[in-house]
Amino acid sequence: MLQFLQQLLSHTFLNPASPQTRAVSNLFWVGGAVATVILAIPTGVLLYTITHYRHKPDQQGEPHQTYGFKRLEIAWTVIPTIIVLVIFALSIHTQGLAEPNTDPGPTGRSDLTVIGHQWWWELRYPSGVVSANEIHIPVRTRWLVSLKSADVVHGFWVPQVGNQMYLIPGQTNHIWLEADKPGVYEGQCAEFCGAQHAWMLLRVIAQPQAVFDSWQRDQSRRAPVPTGRARSAPPPATGTGNTIARFQQPATGSTASLIASGAQLFQQLPCQSCHAIAGTKANAGIGPDLTHLAGRTTLAAGRLDNTPANLKEWLRDPQEYKEGSHMPNLLLTPNQLDALTAYLESLK
Ligand code: CUA
Repeated sequence: MLQFLQQLLSHTFLNPASPQTRAVSNLFWVGGAVATVILAIPTGVLLYTITHYRHKPDQQGEPHQTYGFKRLEIAWTVIPTIIVLVIFALSIHTQGLAEPNTDPGPTGRSDLTVIGHQWWWELRYPSGVVSANEIHIPVRTRWLVSLKSADVVHGFWVPQVGNQMYLIPGQTNHIWLEADKPGVYEGQCAEFCGAQHAWMLLRVIAQPQAVFDSWQRDQSRRAPVPTGRARSAPPPATGTGNTIARFQQPATGSTASLIASGAQLFQQLPCQSCHAIAGTKANAGIGPDLTHLAGRTTLAAGRLDNTPANLKEWLRDPQEYKEGSHMPNLLLTPNQLDALTAYLESLK
């Protein structure tokens, strides 16, 4: 039971991992403690009175009545007033800690821009890195994040490391994002935004500065040009299990040519009209940037773990996993699925 509760609360603000969320969490516990005491005292007095002063069989007439008790009336007016004022002051103080000024100033510069889409998160770093759904940040660094929307209103919320904020079309909002310790912090779109709102998950991955820097360097690289020769004929059909096992082998002979075939297919099929892969002709921004797709931990904004088998399933029929998603079922043949999966898996 305790373990279940712990798990339930582990990704909420009750397990804070930033100064801002810690302030909110502290206020919750102080407020909760005060409210518990306030509940306990009258309830206790009431229960005591009910049992202790109940009508006794040998009792005649009404018990002694008390009219007017000034000191008591002053006490029960003054004490609650003080409690309310203290909680009010604590709330103002918490607000100051939890929501420091987010005005980016005249430059309008922020450390990250997050753009909400139906149903995924576009991430743009000032370094030029573009990614999706998994926000990497250096640990113990306060980042000013700009929030925008490409379509409808979304809600940004990673409860352990930052406040909740709307992403509104035509407007830029800001929040602070900061994590005290390295870790993966789970978030979720917090505003109903259509059929797949529930599958609009995001992650904040907080890393030591050096690890973040190296991640950012890797992400700045363009996609490698496939070294193999694309097969003129489609690659032979193979069993699913076989294919996956083969993808885990180093890129030799047939895998290299499978990757090259996938790269070619990607440019021939409608894939490139929605997605971008840096270093290729594909540079559309309707769907997530795929330049480093294989380096991410999830697919389709958290709908699937990013494994070769899941990627292939997703390509086979996105609508089966995320109905209403803007990624259509392209009715790919098994050979096309193998080649595209191999290519996308090479985009680390
Ligand atoms: Cu985006 Cu709900």
